[in-house]
This record gives sequence, C-alpha cells and structure tokens, in this order.
Amino acid sequence: MLIEGINQEICSKCKICLKVCDRRYFQEDTSGNIVYKNLTDSCNFCGHCIAACPEDAIKRNFDWEDDVETYSEQIVSYEKTLQLLRMNRSTRNYKKKKVPKDLIDKVFNAMRYAPSAGNARLWKYKVLSDPERIAELGDIISRTMWGYWGFSSYEQAKEYYEEMGRQDIFNKAPIVIILYLEREIPNNTMYAIWGVDTGIAITYGRLAAESLGLGTCWMNVLLGAISVKKEEILVILGIKGLVLGAMTLGYPAVKYSRTTPRAPLDVEGLE
Ligand SMILES: Cc1cc2nc3c(=O)[nH]c(=O)nc-3n(C[C@H](O)[C@H](O)[C@H](O)COP(=O)(O)O)c2cc1C
Repeated sequence: MLIEGINQEICSKCKICLKVCDRRYFQEDTSGNIVYKNLTDSCNFCGHCIAACPEDAIKRNFDWEDDVETYSEQIVSYEKTLQLLRMNRSTRNYKKKKVPKDLIDKVFNAMRYAPSAGNARLWKYKVLSDPERIAELGDIISRTMWGYWGFSSYEQAKEYYEEMGRQDIFNKAPIVIILYLEREIPNNTMYAIWGVDTGIAITYGRLAAESLGLGTCWMNVLLGAISVKKEEILVILGIKGLVLGAMTLGYPAVKYSRTTPRAPLDVEGLE
C-alpha cells in the first residue's frame, strides 16, 4: 500500500489532511498547493488522509471503495451499543452446528478494522476446525495446566470436568482462532503492546460474532500452557513464533435471560 500524492485537479485545499495526518506528511507549498512529502518514509498507512478528504483526492496505488455508510451524527445508539456489550457472554456451551464460512468471514472482516499500535498489524490468524486437532490441543493444555486449576493430577481434572459435562477445554467449539506473530519477542514492552493489539482484534471479532448470533470465548489458557510446553503445542498448531491470543467460535447452546451483575468501577478524579 502506498500513498502517492494528491490529485491537484480536485483538491479543494481545505487542509484537512494536514490536520489528520499523524506523521504530518501533508504541507502547503509556496504556490498554495497541498503536497504530500513522506519525509521519513514512515507512513503507517493509517488511511486518515483518505478517510478525511472530502474530494477523495488522495492518490494511492491500491483500490479502496467504501462499502459502509460512513458519516452520520450517531451510527448506533448508546443504548444499542451497551446492549451488545452487556449481552456479549463468554460462551462455554456450543451447539453441534457448523458455522457457515460467510459468517466466519464477517467476523474476520470486523477484526480487520481493529486499531493497533502504529497501525502495525503484525499478527496473523490461524483457524482450527478439525475436531481431532482441537481435542488434541485441549488435551495438552489440560495435561499442562491441571496443577494451576487446583487439581492433584491430570486424571482428577479430567474426571471432574467429564462429570460436570464440560467435555473439553474448548467446550466442543467447532472453531478455534489463534492470533500469533511469526517472530520472537524482542522485549517485554513489545510483548505487552502486541498483547493489547491482538486483544482488541479479538474483542472486535467477539462483538461482531455476537451481532451475528454466534458465541465466542477467550482462550488465553492456551498462552499459559505454551509458556510451559511451547514446542509441542506449536507443532499441534502448525505455526512458528509467538501466540498472543485465542478464542473459540460457534453457535451458543445456552440463551441468557438477563445481563450479568458487575461491581461499580473504581474511578477517581471525575468531577
Ligand atoms: C484476556 C482474557 C483471557 C481469557 N481466557 C479464558 C480462557 O482461557 N478460558 C475461559 O474459559 N475463559 C477465558 N476468559 C473469559 C473470562 O473468564 C470471562 O470474560 C469472565 O469470566 C467474565 O464472563 P463474561 O465474558 O461472560 O462477561 C478470558 C477473558 C479474557 C478477557
């Protein structure tokens, strides 16, 4: 993706690009034209110039057509937004029903628009849908984590969960989505930033899934297991690098009748 400059024939010189460009690449030249100067070659393709320009005068080397209604005073009401946020549950009971590919595509399409630090979007996605592979992954997680869950052995944990009807760690979800980087951690700061980035992407995907009648659950227990048995788990996942987040996806088998209670926030300084 490359920003190539400004179409001077349609530019109205409103200068909104000067205001929205994070890197300040747009300037007014001596003849009053607005010009694009990628001085430090560090454009992160945030796309604000394209989104803000009323005339769509930003030249680029890729196709970009809007397919949503872009501007309105209020896109969704606060009440509807809050309803979505509050009704979004961690799904731990799934129907034995395949999720159509077009719905999975819609979930991914929402994740595509998640913000990330410096617009870096470094991570990749791996989809697991083979029940045997998901079960194998769940099994190695249980074999690794039983001690953390307060059991005295893997067998005890397995028996307990089987008696409860919680069949496996992924709750028989038909889809597991893994977010990962094909590289190692350079330092803890980057690990924290990338963890937040992928967390936001998962949240976008979860909310989109909820709006489509699908259920999801974070599955970061996987990260705990990877910290102990990295090599074995990466082989099962069929990836190399650093796993940053995971979630299940499927049709929820339980319908909730009301929202869950939450304690009030501890906020200081609000006048
Ligand atoms: C970062 C993160 C990691 C989580 N990892 C797991 C997990 O590995 N397994 C699981 O069953 N739930 C996991 N959860 C779900 C939480 O337990 C759940 O959000 C919490 O109990 C509140 O329930 P709710 O999401 O329905 O509001 C995770 C949630 C977050 C935000």
